[in-house]
Amino acid sequence: MARPAIDLSVRVGPLVLPNPVVAASGTFGHGDEVAALCDPAGLGAVTTKSQAPFPWAGNPAPRLHPSAAGMVNAVGLQGPGVDVWLAEDLPPLVARGARVIASVWGFTTDDYVGAAAAVAAAPGVVAVEVNLSCPNLAHGDLVAHDPGATASTVRAVVDATGSVPVLAKLSPNATDVVAVAEAAVGAGAVGLTCVNTVRAFLVDAETRTPALGAGNGGLSGPAVKPIALRVVHDVTRALPGVPVIGTGGVSTGVDAVEMLLAGAVAVGVGTATFRDPRATLRVRDELAAWCGRHGIDRVADLSGALREEPR
Ligand SMILES: Cc1cc2nc3c(=O)[nH]c(=O)nc-3n(C[C@H](O)[C@H](O)[C@H](O)COP(=O)(O)O)c2cc1C
Repeated sequence: MARPAIDLSVRVGPLVLPNPVVAASGTFGHGDEVAALCDPAGLGAVTTKSQAPFPWAGNPAPRLHPSAAGMVNAVGLQGPGVDVWLAEDLPPLVARGARVIASVWGFTTDDYVGAAAAVAAAPGVVAVEVNLSCPNLAHGDLVAHDPGATASTVRAVVDATGSVPVLAKLSPNATDVVAVAEAAVGAGAVGLTCVNTVRAFLVDAETRTPALGAGNGGLSGPAVKPIALRVVHDVTRALPGVPVIGTGGVSTGVDAVEMLLAGAVAVGVGTATFRDPRATLRVRDELAAWCGRHGIDRVADLSGALREEPR
């Protein structure tokens, strides 16, 4: 008798996703640019580029630079502002069947609230993600380091989004990321995305200048996977039952398995999409194949199933 299909569905708090692979914010286009190459309906969800209530030009070029096992970006949250994004970018993505987690950012709590209230009312938005950090903005990362600022920002967003669930995106640069996670959940976040990029700096030896226009940037890709795994493991052990989307350096199905075993319920894929626009779907298929080879019927059974003793 044929083996029943593997159940790839997962729960992220109140959200039920058909599979655990989520396109990470800022790496899947603003609208349907990547979706034209990679069917977003086949993903668990698509987290869209963080939007503020105002247009923002981002950082000076160059904004991306390769690095060993990853890249450093200093895009600086360029965006058209939430009203333009809602009118022009979101509808074609939703029309392709994407379940959209809409990411928002701002300089002030009012900025976050303005963007969050607007996106939460839009058709196709299944959750709002609060980007608490931006390591490559000059004043960035402030909220993400501070449990008090995290709590007040998240609480204000939760109050503004009605029944639409709110996720908080944490920074690996926080000294005590568990304290920030506890603050976010205590303020009403139904889940967490761990992690954003790792603060970084690159030098161009020939020109003796910083390699990126903004100077500092954020490291992502395989180089950050051990850091992301550490945060996911620490946060999920400290906050059992709180759903975490494990993000950072996932580019294969086995990477996804590792993230789930460390405690995540779903997996974000970001930088891998720059090498292969269909990386998210490939990770999903490799994950399913891994489950098949290992006799796993429900991918959700992998979450937190790490044997804590080393071999
Ligand atoms: C070019 C680029 C732009 C990004 N923009 C955002 C963003 O707007 N908001 C956000 O929360 N994270 C942003 N990120 C962070 C990713 O969503 C992800 O958390 C991080 O890159 C780690 O995952 P990865 O190693 O799979 O890329 C960006 C990452 C990259 C590489």
